[in-house]
Amino acid sequence: MTIEIDNLRISFGDKEVVKGVSFNVAKGASFGIVGESGSGKSTVLRAMAGLNNEWSGRIAFSGENAPLYRPPAFFRKVQMVFQDPYGSLHPRQTIDRILSELPLVHCMDNIDDRIAKVLSAVALPMSARFRYPHQLSGGQRQRVAIARALIAEPEVLLLDEPTSALDVSVQAEILNLLADLRVERNLTYVMVSHNLSVIAHLCTEVGVMIDGHMVEQVTAEDLRLGNVNHAHTRELRSLSVELEEPA
Ligand SMILES: Nc1ncnc2c1ncn2[C@@H]1O[C@H](COP(=O)(O)OP(=O)(O)O)[C@@H](O)[C@H]1O
Ligand SMILES: [Mg+2]
Repeated sequence: MTIEIDNLRISFGDKEVVKGVSFNVAKGASFGIVGESGSGKSTVLRAMAGLNNEWSGRIAFSGENAPLYRPPAFFRKVQMVFQDPYGSLHPRQTIDRILSELPLVHCMDNIDDRIAKVLSAVALPMSARFRYPHQLSGGQRQRVAIARALIAEPEVLLLDEPTSALDVSVQAEILNLLADLRVERNLTYVMVSHNLSVIAHLCTEVGVMIDGHMVEQVTAEDLRLGNVNHAHTRELRSLSVELEEPA
């Protein structure tokens, strides 16, 4: 699915926190949004996902304008993955129950088979199926959250800091899994992170947000080479280089 965002504005009360953001994502591409905490990244993603109805501007998937209230079919095609898999998975439901929910809502057939296939796609053992979230590691829980997003066969994943809550050693595993899934399933990604090296790992194009504005859009390659115009982008870049190369 192509994605077009034009002049997106979002306010909470009389406080505008997203101030006219525009970007396009080609089908099968992976667009990253970076920026410091509070710059409006999650708010943009939530509006795209249909989780916030207080926006104006244009959000279009496959050239079709998304209405304020999305029809159920929308949530089959566009899925969001959150930062904290512990918070986003119901603690009293087994993985089997968590993964069954969307297929049941959408009256899909062969649910049993779908669950087995999606567990394998995210490299979770079948023994995880009847466990509870607290019985899994942080990385396994994020794999469950990704499996839940994938099970209804979406075309777009909106990823909000999908590795920030994980140990550094597990982050790369999850990023590699997401990179493979995108290619295998021809998915389109929009991924938010405050960490440029995470974005550079997964995205081909990057938008930089500061205080509700997208001040710059560059290719990941230009970002890596330092071909950036905005001082803020340069600053974010120097911060992530420091993260990558500890003294
Ligand atoms: N539900 C909400 N109600 C009021 N203000 C909010 C709400 N969600 C986010 N904000 C505010 O909007 C701004 C952007 O937040 P957010 O999109 O979460 O930033 P980021 O994801 O870049 O850290 C912040 O100032 C935040 O406090
Ligand atoms: Mg956020």
